[in-house]
Amino acid sequence: MSNKITLTGIKPSGTPHIGNYLGMIRPALELAKEYQAFYFIADYHALTTVRDPETMSELTYDVAATWLALGLDPDQVVFYRQSDIPEVMELTWILACFTAKGLLNRAHAYKAAVDENVEKGLNPDQGINSGLFFYPALMAADIVLFDTDFVPVGLDQKQHIEITRDIVQAINSTYGDVLTMPEAVIREEVMTIPGLDGRKMSKSYDNVIPIFAPSNQLRKSVMRIVTDSRRPEDPKDPETDNVFAIYKHFAKPDDVARVEKGYIEGGLAYSQIKNELYELLEGKFGEARERYGQLMGDKTYLEQVLLQGAEKARKLSVPKISKVRSALGID
Ligand code: TRP
Repeated sequence: MSNKITLTGIKPSGTPHIGNYLGMIRPALELAKEYQAFYFIADYHALTTVRDPETMSELTYDVAATWLALGLDPDQVVFYRQSDIPEVMELTWILACFTAKGLLNRAHAYKAAVDENVEKGLNPDQGINSGLFFYPALMAADIVLFDTDFVPVGLDQKQHIEITRDIVQAINSTYGDVLTMPEAVIREEVMTIPGLDGRKMSKSYDNVIPIFAPSNQLRKSVMRIVTDSRRPEDPKDPETDNVFAIYKHFAKPDDVARVEKGYIEGGLAYSQIKNELYELLEGKFGEARERYGQLMGDKTYLEQVLLQGAEKARKLSVPKISKVRSALGID
């Protein structure tokens, strides 16, 4: 195993769905076999939008239970909750002082919120909290606090890693080699998992298939995936079909090839592939769903896992922040 560090944050802002699984959870579990992994629940990031205490704590446990149920081993991975690491906050301020404001003005999420206001003829900053503005600086702190080498993320987070790199560059060029330069790891092949309506699977479109939906709900979701109206005997296009776009990530290569052929030649009904997809998902997540249910019923255990993770993380974050402070002359 390499001693390079991989780190990623999971925002507790919705129940994890199979788009999250393919785009993030599965690659992250793979990377953890190869590198020293730091995976955390980014509750401070979620605080830019979540406004209900019960939702916040429930979603935090939901994310923790999901990752554990899917096989994350807390003895092998440092698995923690962001808000349990006070050094993250300290470093956020330090980094903010080296972050060009113009860079944050251009950050996608903030800029989109401003643009939306302008479009509606409102004050540009209407309803926008400063947390959203500083979001990229907080994320940079998450990353550099642990000398991260690789950050597995979705394409939507690429800009944040670029901002982090700019900040690292700014600090290192002034103070020497204080921070490690991180690199984004983006999996192109799982970038766009379509949701039920064919748009990117996303909580904000309400088109997700939750990983741990009960069987009957899972079946219903799969049956609702939008297809065109070609009949069973008609040839179909595997490139553009939403069912196939999900199916190909779960099925064995032989089956993918068989179904692809069936599409092109005709004779394969969408309902048949939907059934196969449902069976695959049930087979893949059925057992983990049981574990997930047990974990969600044992918050004391989840809390204990997260606190133990934080303890491990702080063994590194405490010395790191003191190194940074002393480089800056504020120790
Ligand atoms: N902003 C990320 C998202 O919304 C979550 C996140 C927070 C993160 N801190 C991070 C990801 C650090 C990678 C590294 O998905």
